[in-house]
Amino acid sequence: MTFVAPASSVGGHIAVPGDKSISHRAVLVAAICEGETRVTGFGRSADTEATVHAVRALGVDVEEEDVDVLVVGGVGLKGLREPEGHIDCGNSGTLMRLLAGILAGQEGRRFELTGDESLRSRPMERAAEPLRRMGARVETTGGRAPIRIEGGKLAAIRYELPVASAQVKSCLLLAALYARGRTQVIEPMPTRDHTERLLAAAGATVRRRGSNVTVGPAERLELGAVDVPGDPSSSAPFVVATTLLAGSELTVHGVGLNPTRTGFFDLLAHMGARLNVVGRRRLGREPVGDLDVRAAELVAASVAPAQVPGLVDELPLFALAAGCARGESVVRGAGELRAKETDRIETVTNALRALGIRIVASDDGFGVRGVPTRPKGGGLSSHGDHRIAMLGGTAGVVSREGVRVEGADAVAASFPGFFEVLDEVARRP
Ligand code: S3P
Repeated sequence: MTFVAPASSVGGHIAVPGDKSISHRAVLVAAICEGETRVTGFGRSADTEATVHAVRALGVDVEEEDVDVLVVGGVGLKGLREPEGHIDCGNSGTLMRLLAGILAGQEGRRFELTGDESLRSRPMERAAEPLRRMGARVETTGGRAPIRIEGGKLAAIRYELPVASAQVKSCLLLAALYARGRTQVIEPMPTRDHTERLLAAAGATVRRRGSNVTVGPAERLELGAVDVPGDPSSSAPFVVATTLLAGSELTVHGVGLNPTRTGFFDLLAHMGARLNVVGRRRLGREPVGDLDVRAAELVAASVAPAQVPGLVDELPLFALAAGCARGESVVRGAGELRAKETDRIETVTNALRALGIRIVASDDGFGVRGVPTRPKGGGLSSHGDHRIAMLGGTAGVVSREGVRVEGADAVAASFPGFFEVLDEVARRP
């Protein structure tokens, strides 16, 4: 149990770990490149370490030059070997789904992917079904992990994603590298496009036309170097705390500002937050900048279904911000929250209600009746979900009485040093 005491304000200059989505992708794509790829700014966490272990089990050499610098010895597109036992994806849905796409192309080799209890409860048919259509043999366990994959001769498909999911899209774009013909994936709504950017940087043929992404077969990929920007999702708790606590001002340096990831910052600005991006620049193919944040009073906002993919991981924090904003906020079309590390419609509404926020769950979202004041505080459990643990910590500093976070160590999945950074920026009398 970790107790997070209230702060009078927050302030200072921080940097957050490298983007988790890009860190996974950098290691996975580097593994099937020719030669060495140097990954700098790697966001080390339990999830991304699972990716390093996975590629090592597949015969890829990964040297750890520093906590955030890796050198990955690529084995080429078809050079992955059959591991001794199963591959443990831990808590990471991104790893399981993206890796499945690569393994589907390893002709004649067999693999088994599993994970922790949470990951074994999450839907995997959404990736398995289109991979089968491409020609791989994929078996799930009642639609979930463990999943068994036998790589095959793949053929391109045209696939309309039934749910907006960057993980499933990426799975298919990675399998497309091995398929005869051009694979087309059509998204119902735009989702994060880091895989497309990285594959293009590695020399693959990637085209986007509207909601349609096409990837052609590749003969060889080469990256050389990938520099990972700071994770906007890990910056979000600090942006919320700064906004909600009068007298706060904070700069988060080197944050990834890919437009498919900034939905939450845009929404907060719309609610009245004082967010300024300075020093816009590019890191490889990704836009980055420094986020200057000052305290501000918020008004309620509604999140429509089309906005959800752009801020899906920040919806727990939106609920907290909405709880302290003037007026009623509503989120709709976010049923995918129920398929995350926990059912986040349930875990978020239960957690925040226990802290004195007026929030009610719906089938596909929640409604919040905001009061522009500090929430009371109390206790909550992360239920092993990193985003709920970070929500608890953020709520702690902005609350009147502090928050006890049960299962605080879940933050290790994406941001192991979260509570230390929170403590650093919190000003207490
Ligand atoms: C991710 C995509 C999202 C997101 C997850 C990371 C990715 O999941 O929630 O934290 O790196 O592709 P879905 O694609 O399942 O929506």
